[in-house]
Amino acid sequence: MLTVALPKGRIAKETLEIFEKIFGSEFAFDDRKLILDTPDFRFLLVRNQDVATYVHRQAADIGVVGLDTLEEQGLDVIRLLDLRKGVCKVAIGMKKGEKLDLTKPELKVATKMVNITKHYFEQRAVSVDIIKLYGSIELAPLVGLADMIVDIVETGTTMKQNGLEVVEEIMESSTYLIANKNSYIAKKDEILSIYEKIKNVIKNG
Ligand code: PRP
Repeated sequence: MLTVALPKGRIAKETLEIFEKIFGSEFAFDDRKLILDTPDFRFLLVRNQDVATYVHRQAADIGVVGLDTLEEQGLDVIRLLDLRKGVCKVAIGMKKGEKLDLTKPELKVATKMVNITKHYFEQRAVSVDIIKLYGSIELAPLVGLADMIVDIVETGTTMKQNGLEVVEEIMESSTYLIANKNSYIAKKDEILSIYEKIKNVIKNG
């Protein structure tokens, strides 16, 4: 029996569809229920930012989460497979026409992804003032809260509609299948079996 942590929303739905394809039966959470029990799997519905925590602490054996979130959180889990879904970028955005000038003192950067941002600027030996926000990041440069943002860009629509543009790409991201290190040893056959099956579904579209 494997416990699988899934992030609420589209990714959970898409992952359950993969399981449906593999096993030929229906996998769906009832209404507001957060646990879905099937003969071989127990699925947990958690917040995207909590998936790696459940897996890291072995409340789940495996999980599905974005690479951006994994990089941001830095929790020690095994990255088993790129599911090639939820493809996006983490990028620096500025008001259209503005240029990224790292020599400017006291640059203010608004982001939800404080660690990725810190790492990016530290690597370039630039000291910046990082302003942690929880959403609607694109607003910050428009009202003078920040000079730039570090945020997720998927279609680019949010930046465009708010008069921002990407000035630098920091990393590419997509959804990954992850595993707890101890589970990977204790339940190796089960984990590798589902890994292979998911890999085949991904490969064949
Ligand atoms: C994410 C991200 C951008 C937007 C990018 O926000 O923070 O705002 O999606 O997508 P796009 O390039 O396709 O427009 P989310 O929907 O998670 O909302 P939030 O930032 O307000 O939490």
